[in-house]
Amino acid sequence: MNEVADPQRPVVEEPRGLWSRLKSETRATHEKLDGRIMAGRPFESRIHYGLFLLVQHDFHSIVSPLYGHADLAGMLPDLRSRDRLPTIEQDLRDLGLAVPNRLRSPRDYLLDIPGSLGWLYVAEGSNLGAAFLLKAARQLDLSETFGARHLAAAPEGRGLYWKTFTSALDAIELSAVDERRVIGGANDAFMRVLGFVERRFFDATAD
Ligand code: HEM
Repeated sequence: MNEVADPQRPVVEEPRGLWSRLKSETRATHEKLDGRIMAGRPFESRIHYGLFLLVQHDFHSIVSPLYGHADLAGMLPDLRSRDRLPTIEQDLRDLGLAVPNRLRSPRDYLLDIPGSLGWLYVAEGSNLGAAFLLKAARQLDLSETFGARHLAAAPEGRGLYWKTFTSALDAIELSAVDERRVIGGANDAFMRVLGFVERRFFDATAD
């Protein structure tokens, strides 16, 4: 049976190399995360969407320093300009929400290069799935220019933007041990986001 093309779905090539392993070995944590986010009904109201923005802020405030890392910038093109923390902060302001302090975690600043690559894979990949989230956000009258700026596609399109990143990732020469560290970093990142979802959506004692 022919698959029906979904216009929300970016055209993406079949994964190969390290990217392929990252995708298959983080699938379970990604699915768990999707399930928990949707259980929080992030598009039910702007109040719920604000909780989703706080999750994004928690995660991207940790990952943001990696975008300015000189060694990583030598491996991944246009790295600095890919950081979405500033647009998440603007989205919070659009909705009249206070921008929290950026999280600092010494452990994350001490991540090795392979582990950092795994974290960046998660942050960049989340923009691929963001097509679906942006569509849902439109029902709250949010858009690429108000409240959902960080879900916008890159000017060249999500598919190409993602391919540029994954091709660079696949071109990095890594030992088998370091590849395991990349995958470990990606799974740590997903688990960390899951923790933020639990805290922001489901922990009544969270600030
Ligand atoms: C309810 C929330 C989410 C949904 C429904 C969702 C959905 C999706 C979908 C449909 C794709 C595949 C896009 C495609 O191949 O055309 C995708 C990719 C991805 N998403 Fe999510 N996503 C969600 C949240 C997140 C979050 C919060 C993160 C990380 C912080 C994330 C990380 C990723 C990654 C890394 C990929 C790339 C997978 C690959 O092809 O290697 N997603 N997502």
